[in-house]
Amino acid sequence: MEIDLLKNYPKSKRNTKGRSEIMSEEVKAIARQYGKDFFDGDRLYGYGGFSYMPRFWQPVVPDLISHFNLKADSSLLDVGCAKGFMLYDLLQHMPEMQVSGLDISEYAIENAKPEVKDLLQVGDAKALPYEDDSFDVVMSINTVHNLEKDECAAALQEIMRVSRGKAFITVDAYRNDEEQERMMQWALTAKTIMHVDDWKSFFKEVGYTGDFYWFIP
Ligand SMILES: C[S@@+](CC[C@H](N)C(=O)[O-])C[C@H]1O[C@@H](n2cnc3c(N)ncnc32)[C@H](O)[C@@H]1O
Repeated sequence: MEIDLLKNYPKSKRNTKGRSEIMSEEVKAIARQYGKDFFDGDRLYGYGGFSYMPRFWQPVVPDLISHFNLKADSSLLDVGCAKGFMLYDLLQHMPEMQVSGLDISEYAIENAKPEVKDLLQVGDAKALPYEDDSFDVVMSINTVHNLEKDECAAALQEIMRVSRGKAFITVDAYRNDEEQERMMQWALTAKTIMHVDDWKSFFKEVGYTGDFYWFIP
C-alpha cells in the first residue's frame, strides 16, 4: 500500500539548483563510499554533519507504532539504518522491542548512537544476513534506490524474505517532468530513480508486497 508514514518527518529546505552545479561524477563517487565525507564531511558530499536530533524521528515513531501495530514483543529491522537514530527513537517508545539495524557504512556503524550501537551491524541490503521470516517488520528509508535496478530488485526480495510480511520502504521518485528535473539536480547517491508508476510496476514484478512511499525533493 502507498502510505506516507514519514508525513511528520521535518521537510528539509534544500537548494537543489545550487547543488547540481557542483555535483560531478567525482563528488558522487565520494558520496557513494558512505564514509566520513558522506555523513560528517562537507555538505557537497552528503549530509554535511549527521547528528542525532530528536525532532526528526520522534514525531514519526507514533505513526510507525500504530500502522504496524507494534507491541513490546514485536521485532523490526532497519535496512540502511545509518547511525541508528530512528531505532533509538523507536526504543524510547517501545523499550522492550527487539530491533536490529544494518548498513553498508562501516563509518556510520562505528559512529552510531552509543545506546543502539550493539544492535547494528555492517552489511549489504542485497544479501541480508538473517534467516527467512526473522522480523515482524522490515523498514528501509531512502536506501534501496542507491543500488542498480537489478540489485535493487534483489534488495526488495531480501526485505520480503526476512520479513514475516510487513515492510515499508521509501525511494527516490517523481510524478511529473518538473519533479524529475528537480530530482536529477538533487540526487547524489541514487542509481535507480523512477516515475512512481514505474516503481509500482517494479514492486509487482519483483514480488515486493510491503508498503511504500516516495522521496521527492
Ligand atoms: C540517505 S541515507 C538514509 C539513512 C537513514 N535510513 C535515514 O533515513 O536517515 C542512505 C543509507 O543507505 C546506506 N546504504 C547504501 N547502500 C547500501 C546497501 N547496499 N546496503 C545497506 N545500506 C546501504 C548508506 O550507508 C546510508 O546510511
